[in-house]
This record gives sequence, C-alpha cells and structure tokens, in this order.
Amino acid sequence: MAAVRPSTLLFLRRCPYTGPPFSYTRAFAYKPRRHLTTTPPRYDSSSFSPHTHTFHDVAPLRQFRRDLLIHNRTVGLVPTMGALHEGHLSLVREAAAENTDVFVSVYVNPTQFGLNEDLASYPKTWEADMRMLIALDWELASVGAGRITAVFAPSTKTMYPTIPPDSAIPGAGSFVEMRPLGQLLEGASRPVFFRGVATVCMKLFNICTPDRVYFGQKDIQQTVVIKRLVKDFHLNTEVRIGPTQREDDGLAMSSRNVYLGTRRRNTGIVLRESLLKAEAQYLSGKRKRGDILWPANAYADRVQHEQDSLDAHSRARFEVDYISLADPETMEEIDEVDESRGAILSGAVKMLPVEDAREDEELGVGGGKIPVRLIDNIVLEPIV
Ligand code: PAJ
Repeated sequence: MAAVRPSTLLFLRRCPYTGPPFSYTRAFAYKPRRHLTTTPPRYDSSSFSPHTHTFHDVAPLRQFRRDLLIHNRTVGLVPTMGALHEGHLSLVREAAAENTDVFVSVYVNPTQFGLNEDLASYPKTWEADMRMLIALDWELASVGAGRITAVFAPSTKTMYPTIPPDSAIPGAGSFVEMRPLGQLLEGASRPVFFRGVATVCMKLFNICTPDRVYFGQKDIQQTVVIKRLVKDFHLNTEVRIGPTQREDDGLAMSSRNVYLGTRRRNTGIVLRESLLKAEAQYLSGKRKRGDILWPANAYADRVQHEQDSLDAHSRARFEVDYISLADPETMEEIDEVDESRGAILSGAVKMLPVEDAREDEELGVGGGKIPVRLIDNIVLEPIV
C-alpha cells in the first residue's frame, strides 16, 4: 500500500464518508461491496446507509453472506441485545479492524431471561441504536476499516421456528447447555441464562457463519461459555474478547445502567472497588484464595453497613451475590492461583430498589423501582 502522510490521515479521519475509499488496496477491497450494495432487493433488506443492510430473515442474510464469501471477504459478528453503548461499539471497532465486513445482531433473546427477570423491561432503543451504528460506520469509513454491512434483527419466530421460547426448567425446546460451567456463578443465580446465551449464539453463528465473533470481557463467564461452545461443537470461527469499557469512575458500562439513577449509580462502584482491592493482593504476590479475597469482602461489607445505616431517603442498599476467584477455563472456584494459568476475579451485586425517593431526585428509568444486577471482573494474568 502506498505510504499515506499523517496529515492526510488526519484529514481523512475528520472527513465524513462521501465516496469510495481512498487507497488502492481499499478501493480494490471495496469493489465487491459496491457491487453488493447496488442490488439490495436481492437480499430483501432495508438499507439505512449505503453500506448497511438490515435483515430480518435468515435466507436473504445467508445469500448476502455467500456473496461475501465468493469475494473473499471476511465477516466479524458482534452479537448484541441492542440498547447500544460504547461497550458494544468498541467491539464493532475491533471487528472492523480485523474483517472487511461487520455484522451486528440486535435481538433480545427471551430464553436467557428467567421467568422472574427483566425481559419485559429490558431497554429497547432501536432508532438510537441505528443512529449510533450509522455514525460509527462513517467513522470506520474515514479510517479505512471494515464496514458494518449487515444488521441482523430477527423476530422471535425466526429465531425459534418450531417451539416458542421457554424459560422454564427443564423447558420445552432445542437447547445448548454447558454443564457445570453454565450453572456456576451467574448461572447459579440465573439458572437458564447460559443455556439461553449458548443456544441463541449457536443459532446466530449458524446463520451468519462469521470468521470471527466478538464478545466483551465485561461478561466474562459468557466469554468462557462461548469459547467452550466453539470448541466443543467444532464451530468454524475465532472468538475475540474486547476489554471492558468503563465510565470515568470505573463503573462498567451496561445497558442496564439506565435503571440505576444517581443514588444507586454512585454506590454501584463498590463492586469495581472491591475487585481492585483483590487484584492489588495478587499483584503484590499473594496467591492464596483467602489472602486475595479478604480485602474485597471486607470493603464490600463496610460499604454495605455504611449504606444500611443511612436514612431510607438517602441510602442505596445492595446485596453481594458473589465475589469469586475462579479458574479461567472452568470458572470453578480455586484455593490458590496457579501462576501459569492466572485466574478470574469476578463479582455480582444486586442494587435494591430505592426505598424513599426525594422529590428532586434523579431515579433513572423505571423510577428506582427496578432492582439492578451489576457484574464486573478482573483477569489475573498468568505470570510467564
Ligand atoms: P449485550 O448485553 O447487549 O452485550 C453484547 C456484547 O457487548 C457482549 O459481548 C457484552 O459482553 C459486550 N459488552 C457489554 N457491555 C460491555 C462493556 N462495558 N465493555 C465491553 N463490552 C461490553 O451479552 C449479550 O448482549 C447477550 O447475552 C448476547 C451475547 C447478545 C446473546 O443474546
């Protein structure tokens, strides 16, 4: 590729996408894409930007994927449930850096929500999501990365064509399960969660046949489940894990954070701070479970007592579900970190509903009434 002066790059970065890409290599790479985008009816898709088609059905998406394959293009899939934020976008950027085409799926998967969970209230922000993806696609064009060429937004009838989704246990339907992995930690509190995740991802991978799939470290047990899915079922795709995107104070971004409101938002950082205390122990040479975890548990307990002792109109009460030190491949609890494997520190807290709201208080979506589960983790890297 011809050398591009940094000033030119700067210019291109600032410039919104207005036409074909600039470099020879990219112009060459983009030719098939232009061919594809001139024939949208063939794929029975709508198009919200010159490069991006929205698919609701499997057959047209498969046709689109086949054409990409013929032209030696590569596909990175970013599965999402919508309500997009910077965490999702960072995965799309990673996918665009490694593939010519990025597929983003947007589907709130019912089978991963338990019967008492927040499926009905899960945020649905389709229009805002599409605006974010359009803006991001322009950004990708300006830096010469791969483009978002497909958004897959199926209906539940499409994803579950025979038996309607069932969140009961054992439940009727066709499921993929990883035992005991899917029953530990998050799976202990949310018994159908990983069955639902593995099942829907198996479907998405079969439909999109991506070269690579992108998942966030934020949901670390989910990444372990997906790696297991790919390995045990010999799926022909590579799993990539992107770092957790955080707010300025360190709170992990999450679609559910909109429910927190200021009071619970400020206290919710307790999980991150607890895990950091445990990580510091590891970094200072501690390897035994008790030595690593005690400061995290002690800190969480202290904050919990502090909050409990405040008035109902100012406290944010929470329950710690778990603070875990686990093996990176099995997620089973360990007594001591094996330096050659490292470990995963993870935790979950449940922010309880706001008890006594003040008049002027910012309570978030749902008026502070919806309990919010926060999860976070830190990877304790192996020592080489
Ligand atoms: P969702 O919660 O929408 O997340 C989609 C992807 O974004 C997941 O891989 C998740 O780990 C990643 N993500 C979320 N918050 C992030 C953050 N702060 N930083 C980096 N990545 C983040 O996870 C799901 O949807 C579903 O379970 C799904 C895999 C789509 C299956 O239905």
